[in-house]
Amino acid sequence: MTDTPLNVPVDKIPRHVAIIMDGNGRWANQRGLPRLAGHKAGTENLRRVIRATVEFGVKYLTIYAFSTENWGRPPEEVHGLLGILQDVIDRELNELNQEGVQLRHIGRLERLSPSLQARVLKAIDLTRNNDRLILNIAWNYGGRDEIVCAIQKIIKDGIAPDDVTDSLVGKYMFTAGAPDPDLVIRTSGELRVSNFLIWQTAYSEWYVTPTFWPDFDREEYRRALEAFAQRDRRYGKVSSELEGSNA
Ligand code: IPE
Ligand code: IPE
Ligand code: MG
Repeated sequence: MTDTPLNVPVDKIPRHVAIIMDGNGRWANQRGLPRLAGHKAGTENLRRVIRATVEFGVKYLTIYAFSTENWGRPPEEVHGLLGILQDVIDRELNELNQEGVQLRHIGRLERLSPSLQARVLKAIDLTRNNDRLILNIAWNYGGRDEIVCAIQKIIKDGIAPDDVTDSLVGKYMFTAGAPDPDLVIRTSGELRVSNFLIWQTAYSEWYVTPTFWPDFDREEYRRALEAFAQRDRRYGKVSSELEGSNA
């Protein structure tokens, strides 16, 4: 069976899609498998979602892989997730690089082992000139942590209070230089933000599906983009004021 083409005009393709990849544990549980098997299946799925992202012409993809709160999970799960991060870098880096994917990290690397930190930094460095897709990996990422970190840096830089503007704060975020997400997708049906990109998603559109992350396929991604294309983004204004503007 051939894939259904994406039926969206180019100007309605989101520039930036952010995904809360949720439901790996429940996916595994449904099959009588350990939670880590769900995380492995989720990682496999990430490959096809990255491929579809390139196919659909989305330029920025941010994926929520591990939150600042996820350290509170049982140690064997945390350990397994760290192992998966390392495996992904070791096994997928060359292919991602060849496909023109630029890897970035958002969050704090401090809690990773020095060797894993070095691997992540090497991957970022190796892919820094690629521009087909910017893939932001949120690992040890928390939206509140990011804001705290930004405030600390602003104070350390001696910025005067009157110079603290919306655009200046944006420059102190881990995502500095990237457009805000146009569309946030959350799998597994939870209706909450779970500390993800709380600054950057002020005017993002949301798409929540009950599908667990390992089963979120190209077809469902296509539907999410087609739903997004139908949205009327008003940014607090009325539609007539926005006509002809790119806001
Ligand atoms: C998302 O799946 C992956 C991570 C948070 C690392 P979960 O592990 O949260 O799966 P559920 O929500 O328990 O099903
Ligand atoms: C959000 O999922 C974090 C990631 C997908 C990495 P969680 O499973 O941690 O979120 P809650 O606990 O359901 O809010
Ligand atoms: Mg979850």
